[in-house]
Amino acid sequence: MINPLAQELNDALKGTTAGELLSDVGVRLYFPKGIIAQSGEAKKLGHTANGTIGTTVVDGKPLVLPSIRKYISGELTSGELVGYAPTAGNPDLRAVWKEELIRKNPSLKDKSFSLPVVVPGLTAGISYLADLFLDEEHALVAADPSWDNYVLIANARRNADFVQFKVFKDGKFNIEGLKETLNEQAKTGSVRVILNFPQNPSGYSPTKDEAKQLVAMCKELAEKGTKVMVWCDDAYFGLNYEDDIEPQSLFAHLCDLHENVLAAKIDGPTKEDFAWGFRTGFITFGCKGMTEAQYDALVKKLMAAIRSSVSCASTPSQSFILKGYKAGNIEAEKKEFRKILERRYAIVRKFVNEHKSDYIEPLPFNSGYFMSFDTKNINAEELRVKLLHEHGIGTIQIDPQTLRVAFSSLDEENIEVVYNAIYKVAEEMGKN
Ligand SMILES: Cc1ncc(COP(=O)(O)O)c(C=O)c1O
Repeated sequence: MINPLAQELNDALKGTTAGELLSDVGVRLYFPKGIIAQSGEAKKLGHTANGTIGTTVVDGKPLVLPSIRKYISGELTSGELVGYAPTAGNPDLRAVWKEELIRKNPSLKDKSFSLPVVVPGLTAGISYLADLFLDEEHALVAADPSWDNYVLIANARRNADFVQFKVFKDGKFNIEGLKETLNEQAKTGSVRVILNFPQNPSGYSPTKDEAKQLVAMCKELAEKGTKVMVWCDDAYFGLNYEDDIEPQSLFAHLCDLHENVLAAKIDGPTKEDFAWGFRTGFITFGCKGMTEAQYDALVKKLMAAIRSSVSCASTPSQSFILKGYKAGNIEAEKKEFRKILERRYAIVRKFVNEHKSDYIEPLPFNSGYFMSFDTKNINAEELRVKLLHEHGIGTIQIDPQTLRVAFSSLDEENIEVVYNAIYKVAEEMGKN
């Protein structure tokens, strides 16, 4: 039985690509006209008293325990610290993030896309998209290798098939492999694909030419009548270390590509603003021809996923980020931090260019936090364990043939030590 409010949203989305791509959960979700909506009304109209929300209020402000307050400077009001944030996030922060999206992706200027919705971290955002658009009948396409959380979310949580394409072939980004996989999926009538650049675990981002081919591929599918949803996981956005990389998110090219293409952007301060533990992320939707009312219905579906799981994201993190952006110096500060990562990349790049091995080979990398080795005919887990136990060096085994190194976490002076050890242990393992 579909709730009448869910039906209203489904009716609003009728005929849109978003409406057609909804999962079983997506169809059922609705944003209740309950406590949150009534409290919102009372905020505007409850001049005498507002007895709607379960917080402890004195003189119009929520109370904060002094033992907690003392760690935060007086510049945050108690509301900015312990008050509840709206389900879709602090509206000022949402507006700032939208402006930032346009600044960072100039092609978004004058394009129509939704106001970003705050989610408690990018992981939660991906999980909500999975709620809304994946189910037993609707698979997710992703790279192989890709971030291990994708399969956990799509397959273990949502029981959706997790279909992978080999991300590299002959040392290059495997555009053809992706195309074949999407064409195969298109036979089911619709396609949902997650593309993550800079990529975890390889550290690869497409060149300008490859990005054009990716966009063309989506357009071609859409023109044949396939409903295509592209999830752009932009967790590491902006950390590009080579000149030929496409500087804008694929979202900027996809959000108005075709009526049959729905793009979702997953991004946030986690990595971009060096605020990993803040648990703040954003979901933004874009689809050619979608009206404001239709975006509103889709955002309400997302709000329903948030309301029914965590209710809302953490308030102080949103307040800190908003204040950080308003202070005006954040971009210059981020530039300095990004330079640290770029220097580490340059050292790693030089090292691997100068060292050849029969047993390990770096996968293509040009961006982000990581690089990975194809461990060819030695076992990546054995390599990891030896590095850890014999050299005290921590790395990640992604699969039996892939070892990931987060150079983002290595101090510059340690990089040679780490990479020397990796090549030495690989050599020993290969020769035995
Ligand atoms: C590709 C990718 N997406 C999303 C995330 C998760 O971000 P968050 O910490 O905001 O949940 C990560 C974190 O490791 C990641 O590598």
